[in-house]
Amino acid sequence: MPSINSLLAITALATSALAAMQTVTVAPNAKFAFDPPTIKAAAGDQVQFVFANGNHTVTSGMACKPDGAVNSGFIAVNNQADAGPNGQAKGKGKGNGALGGLFGRQAGRNQATFTMTVQDTNPMAIYCAQATHCQQGPMVMIINPADDGQMTLPNVQKAAQRARNNVPADNVSGGQLNNKAKQLQAKNAKGKGKGNNGGLGALLGGN
Ligand SMILES: *[C@@H]1O[C@H](CO)[C@@H](O)[C@H](O)[C@H]1NC(C)=O
Ligand SMILES: *[C@@H]1O[C@H](CO)[C@@H](O)[C@H](O)[C@H]1NC(C)=O
Repeated sequence: MPSINSLLAITALATSALAAMQTVTVAPNAKFAFDPPTIKAAAGDQVQFVFANGNHTVTSGMACKPDGAVNSGFIAVNNQADAGPNGQAKGKGKGNGALGGLFGRQAGRNQATFTMTVQDTNPMAIYCAQATHCQQGPMVMIINPADDGQMTLPNVQKAAQRARNNVPADNVSGGQLNNKAKQLQAKNAKGKGKGNNGGLGALLGGN
């Protein structure tokens, strides 16, 4: 007879193997937007951000202010080779279960990605901390939007449009950059060599 503990371990393994990965394109067709702008995800699911164009961040927080949970730092994609065909994520990886996860992972090949694991089903607003992208796009999205109350997509958009400042976060947190993204971030450091992002880029580039 297998012990309860080993059954639990098997269940946990099966659950993690089935965790979905969803793909979000950052700046599709050079628009100040995340596509899709809302996703629903379960705790343990992964969200992979694919940087398609320009110089952007994936940063969590309302009204263009970081809350410290999730931040990719600045990733500058400056040519079609970096961006992939049509400047789009190659796949959507939207399916549930293992297959969705596979497609999701496929989407990021050869492209700069930042992948986070969703910790819970609480709403999480995400914005781009570059220049005035957050306010202008508004370049925002929401993971697990609420049906009502403050954390709906329209409210997250309004709060962004009204924000006085667009504030970058200091450190990469809450997720993993792939090698391509680390490479591109290291270029920020070469370009500037000072300031928070330059320092961070240097740190990552040195790894
Ligand atoms: C960012 O990282 C540096 C170096 O690890 C640390 O000293 C600093 O406190 C961090 N800042 C934030 C806001 O977490
Ligand atoms: C990307 O944007 C950041 C913040 O504005 C800047 O520090 C960095 O130099 C930019 N990177 C490139 C390669 O242009």
